[in-house]
Amino acid sequence: MPTLTVDLGPRSYDILIGSNLLGQAGEMIKSITPGRKILLVSNPTVYGLYGEICTQSLAKSGLEVACALMPDGEEYKNMQEVLGIVDEAVKGRVERSSLIMALGGGVVGDLAGFVAAIYQRGIDFVQIPTTLLAQVDSSVGGKVAVNHLQGKNLLGAFHQPRLVIIDSGVLKTLNRRDYLSAMGEIIKYGLIYDESFFTFLEAEVSNIMQQEENCLQKIIYRSCEIKSEIVAEDETEQGKRAILNLGHTFGHAVEKLGDYKIYRHGEAVAIGMATAAHLSVILGLMSSRDLRRVKNLLASFSLNIRFPDFDTDDVISVMQRDKKVKDNKMNFVLPCGIGNCVITDNITEKEIKTAIKEARK
Ligand SMILES: NC(=O)c1ccc[n+]([C@@H]2O[C@H](COP(=O)([O-])OP(=O)(O)OC[C@H]3O[C@@H](n4cnc5c(N)ncnc54)[C@H](O)[C@@H]3O)[C@@H](O)[C@H]2O)c1
Repeated sequence: MPTLTVDLGPRSYDILIGSNLLGQAGEMIKSITPGRKILLVSNPTVYGLYGEICTQSLAKSGLEVACALMPDGEEYKNMQEVLGIVDEAVKGRVERSSLIMALGGGVVGDLAGFVAAIYQRGIDFVQIPTTLLAQVDSSVGGKVAVNHLQGKNLLGAFHQPRLVIIDSGVLKTLNRRDYLSAMGEIIKYGLIYDESFFTFLEAEVSNIMQQEENCLQKIIYRSCEIKSEIVAEDETEQGKRAILNLGHTFGHAVEKLGDYKIYRHGEAVAIGMATAAHLSVILGLMSSRDLRRVKNLLASFSLNIRFPDFDTDDVISVMQRDKKVKDNKMNFVLPCGIGNCVITDNITEKEIKTAIKEARK
């Protein structure tokens, strides 16, 4: 089975990638936990599809399972739901040696991981990501968080999972929009880090659209590999890890102004990435030809990358409250051609406004 290791010294962990892995989750988890109790965190949608196969597998391995479900949706990624899951953990007598298993997309993974980070000062957790976005991005790297009214992921921690189990077979039940939205984050890896991966994605559009299993596993593997390499170099985002935020400064503003209801995270990142690429062209960091390549690739996965008609001053004021702001200066990750990028805080408001205007054309 393709396996990657995120190399973080004592916090290192494996990412297992394959199909039909859910039925083996019990054995895999048993081998890494000293305790017997598992708190399975999910939502009704995912639990209805994959809860039983997981709980059976855990029980077969002699593990004791308690379940805690949160409602389905980004708007529930908040402290109230955290406290609800904590209540279930207390009721289920979850101990320090117990383990939380996150079964779901990025929302479940972020929230369950956050609970694992704070419950009894931190307990182990395992990610079983069930959306493409969670499989290529959110389940790896240990960023766990919930939203606050004033901003996305404002409350969070770095808490690495003990194991990530990626079963590409579960993507068959994912709706088309959620599947395609992940292409925003996947293309981002090519753009910031690996031109040959970007070229591979250009060549594989039709296989990706058809969810061809082999091609999908390659993409999941390479995406996780790129993220792991970056995270291993800079676990807590003191420097290089910030390149993973390309498209996120504009993207988070778009998500927030849409009340987290209009845009999926990956869709907002795609808009943000196209806008960042426009900004790069304005600053002379990227050619118009490369900008066209980025926009064409995003569009070939039916991603609408035109910057939405929110008031530009509102966009900027949300961006200024983003947690990536340092000493009142906004930080931008900007592509330098394809496969390379730069982090800068030296951008004027006028340049930002021009980029947004260009991205609206
Ligand atoms: N921690 C990180 O590093 C990181 C990175 C990127 C994104 N994120 C976060 O991830 C979240 C977005 O995650 P997402 O795009 O996975 O959204 P999501 O978790 O809301 O999942 C999308 C929808 O798909 C459903 N679903 C999940 N798996 C399914 C399956 N196999 N079959 C059918 N339906 C399924 C969910 O119930 C939900 O309705 C955002 O909150 C974002 O901030 C975190």
